[in-house]
Amino acid sequence: MTPSVTLAACLLLGIPATAAAQGLAPVQLPAPQIQGGKPLMEALRDRQSIRAFLPDDIPLQTLSNLLWAGFGVNRPESGRRTAPSAVNWQEVDIYVTTREGAYRYDAQAHRLEPVRAGDFRAITGTVPFVATAPLNLVYVADLAKITRESEEEKNFYSAIDTGFIAQNVYLFCASEGLATVVRAQVDREALAEALGLRPEQKIIVAQTVGYPAG
Ligand SMILES: Cc1cc2nc3c(=O)[nH]c(=O)nc-3n(C[C@H](O)[C@H](O)[C@H](O)COP(=O)(O)O)c2cc1C
Repeated sequence: MTPSVTLAACLLLGIPATAAAQGLAPVQLPAPQIQGGKPLMEALRDRQSIRAFLPDDIPLQTLSNLLWAGFGVNRPESGRRTAPSAVNWQEVDIYVTTREGAYRYDAQAHRLEPVRAGDFRAITGTVPFVATAPLNLVYVADLAKITRESEEEKNFYSAIDTGFIAQNVYLFCASEGLATVVRAQVDREALAEALGLRPEQKIIVAQTVGYPAG
């Protein structure tokens, strides 16, 4: 697949253009800004699903803040995160799809690890806005990390743990004036293949983020 990388997009994402042209470079995210934002009660007041997005890119600092809010490390001494996870399994990975490619968020390094170059946004959902919104997050649970025998328990815990992350993203978006909607309607087979997931990696839901249109 040919990556469609513009120089402006490279600069925005902090990717050296030459490296991006050859494939996809890792993106070290700037330290998250953890001061400010709306008071919690105002963010809760404004939380909502919005399904109309401008195509404008999200600045790298905002992406850093968003991923940290979603499931970043808030206690570096223990590596624990902004969302809880059963038994601290931390089994949910956030895959980040932009017009340049697909990345996996490494929370401990606060870095985007390249997965595949190319524009996979359209494959993250079944509705047109996913193809043009700047960012689609895909929540992928590694069921191998859940030390329970039954499929039912694995599905139960991974779904709950994902819900906390998605709500953190909702609240961050409400605070920042960003539009977002979490989406269960995903062609999981096609997307898993596009992202090169292992059989034990299960797509739970996706979440679109961007600036609101209108
Ligand atoms: C698990 C889950 C799956 C959802 N799947 C979709 C979806 O596939 N497409 C969509 O447009 N909205 C989806 N939503 C968003 C809901 O439709 C939305 O949260 C609901 O209508 C309430 O609106 P609100 O979020 O603005 O309060 C989903 C929400 C949840 C919690």
